[in-house]
Amino acid sequence: MKFFVDTADLAEIKELAATGLLDGVTTNPSLVAKSGHHDFIALVKEIASIVPGPVSAEVAATDFDTMMAEGLYLARIARNIAVKVPLTPAGLKVCKALSQQGTMVNVTLCFSAAQAILAAKAGATFVSPFVGRLDDIGENGMQLIADICQIYKAYPQFKTEVLVASVRHPGHVIEAAKMGAHVATIPPSVIRQLFNHPLTDKGLAQFVSDWQKTGQKIPIDSDGKVQPLKSGRA
Ligand code: G3P
Repeated sequence: MKFFVDTADLAEIKELAATGLLDGVTTNPSLVAKSGHHDFIALVKEIASIVPGPVSAEVAATDFDTMMAEGLYLARIARNIAVKVPLTPAGLKVCKALSQQGTMVNVTLCFSAAQAILAAKAGATFVSPFVGRLDDIGENGMQLIADICQIYKAYPQFKTEVLVASVRHPGHVIEAAKMGAHVATIPPSVIRQLFNHPLTDKGLAQFVSDWQKTGQKIPIDSDGKVQPLKSGRA
């Protein structure tokens, strides 16, 4: 399962990329506004240089001609750009045209299995169903992921990856993984939550304390360099 981070915050992206566990980035107009960055193109270019995997950059227009022109421009920023288009008739038309040219496309704002079928037929690289926003209105976001995964599995000619979006908590990520979703795009705060377990903290404290009692050290130099192994048996 691939992990994308759902943010336009450069500091967060750099910090999470350093873990080596980040496979891509998704942005949207709201996240760009939240970042306070005033040059969207420069921002996307920098993100695409930090993370080698797909970086979703969303078109701003809603009509076909302008979305198409914006998409072509965004795609030229870097080889790893996925142009993000809304799940509308015009957005899917743009998706089909860009996909046929070899550009990655992420179809966003997907709220039904029917919409996900359309995105696959339009050749989308990714479809982004928003689970949290469905939960917010009393529907079951994860059921939508289950439905889309089931449908896509039934049609091997569909190459579209299910990109679980609007993730609110680690439970969404675990459920998505159990269903075989290809990608989850996760807010930085939720990615950090994935690492945590109180028994890990407790166990580590115990190991550190017990190791100190042995009075031993694993031989490394003070600058962190690895010393040569001692020859002979210990
Ligand atoms: O990037 C799209 C999606 O993940 C947005 O999530 O939290 O605004 O519903 P949210």
